[in-house]
Amino acid sequence: MNIVRIFEFAAAIIIALFVAYNFLHYVLFMLVTRPKDASKIGHQLNQFERRQLVEWTPQPSDFLKHDDQKRTYDDVFGTYRDEQANYSTCVFPRVAFSCPYKAEYVLLKPKDGMRLLDLGCGSGAAAEYLASRRNIEIVCVTNSSVQADICRRKFAKLGGRGQVIAADFDSLDLPSDNFDAIYALESIGYTKDLDAWLARCWRMLKPGGRRLIRSRGSLDHCRRKEDYLSVTAFFENWRYNFVGANLLVYKMRRLGFSPIRYRRLPFWAWGLTWNFIQHMLLWKYRLKMRTFVELERIIWRTSKVFVFGNPYNTVLATKPEAASCSQQAHASSKVAGDVAERPCHGDSVLPSRSWSSSKRNEENQLQRLPVPSRDHPASDLALSPVHAELS
Ligand SMILES: C[S@@+](CC[C@H](N)C(=O)[O-])C[C@H]1O[C@@H](n2cnc3c(N)ncnc32)[C@H](O)[C@@H]1O
Repeated sequence: MNIVRIFEFAAAIIIALFVAYNFLHYVLFMLVTRPKDASKIGHQLNQFERRQLVEWTPQPSDFLKHDDQKRTYDDVFGTYRDEQANYSTCVFPRVAFSCPYKAEYVLLKPKDGMRLLDLGCGSGAAAEYLASRRNIEIVCVTNSSVQADICRRKFAKLGGRGQVIAADFDSLDLPSDNFDAIYALESIGYTKDLDAWLARCWRMLKPGGRRLIRSRGSLDHCRRKEDYLSVTAFFENWRYNFVGANLLVYKMRRLGFSPIRYRRLPFWAWGLTWNFIQHMLLWKYRLKMRTFVELERIIWRTSKVFVFGNPYNTVLATKPEAASCSQQAHASSKVAGDVAERPCHGDSVLPSRSWSSSKRNEENQLQRLPVPSRDHPASDLALSPVHAELS
């Protein structure tokens, strides 16, 4: 074979790999943006899902922890990430290396004039993308003051349509029936009270509003105690709970969400995406986060069916048009476990009002809330409900 043939052959392989790689992203995008009807899942929890609700739920003292090396969110994200980077392990662009939040745009269907809430917003990458495509208002919540500052800088160009609250989303107390859509991308696993968190979302959503949750990992396919114990390392290091589609549908159905749709993508597929590979390299080699430094060992000792089937979950639910706060009071009492949230509590604190365009230029309409830091113990923030007020 002469040198020209070798080059042609190499070029053909590179092009074929590039096409295949984009095709993988395209297929994942199509799957995520066409979630399945959830009527067949979420009717019961297995023993590991019940255990995780007790053993893997982060405690108030875990509030700021993000690594076993005693690093906080600010330490992990603030100094290592470019401001334009997204903090999501997985995103589902139509093709690799393209806009990461296209799938959220398709699922949330934002329309001009809508109000959205982003719980656990990271660098505000999703919010910035959505708000740049539609004339919407977005409130972003993060527990990290570094992230909040990044968001504020990014949202400066949105003319007041982007708001940031630096607070614990478990203590959030915003008005009822206030948002057309609420989304949480890879953040629900950090909640210290899943039932209250979901009930709060129900309350803050307007009837007909959409609830989108993306969450990595779940235990609905866990069959062996050894696997459960093995992946407990993720909770021990990250204080992150694998809140899967089955668990979410189980709880959201009881709150009254309907219809509910979901999509589960197996790890062998989402683990090959460009965004995930980038994160892996960052976590493992630059941040040296223990879970990822030891990932091969964890995979080795865990059954491969569990590891490679471990799903990335997308759940999209609607609060029915006819739903009211009184229905929520009833529904939340049906959710397994205690629901700490008082129904319609926000109403007594704040009138529910829409943000008029005259207010749009006031970047700090929302009261500057206690910014979590090492000086403000997590438990302080977690125990005192946050009341956001319009100035
Ligand atoms: C994996 S990142 C995802 C960020 C973002 N949603 C994205 O897609 O790029 C999880 C986010 O949840 C935030 N978070 C974790 N616990 C939180 C809490 N108790 N209250 C508010 N935000 C929290 C983290 O600071 C981080 O921004």
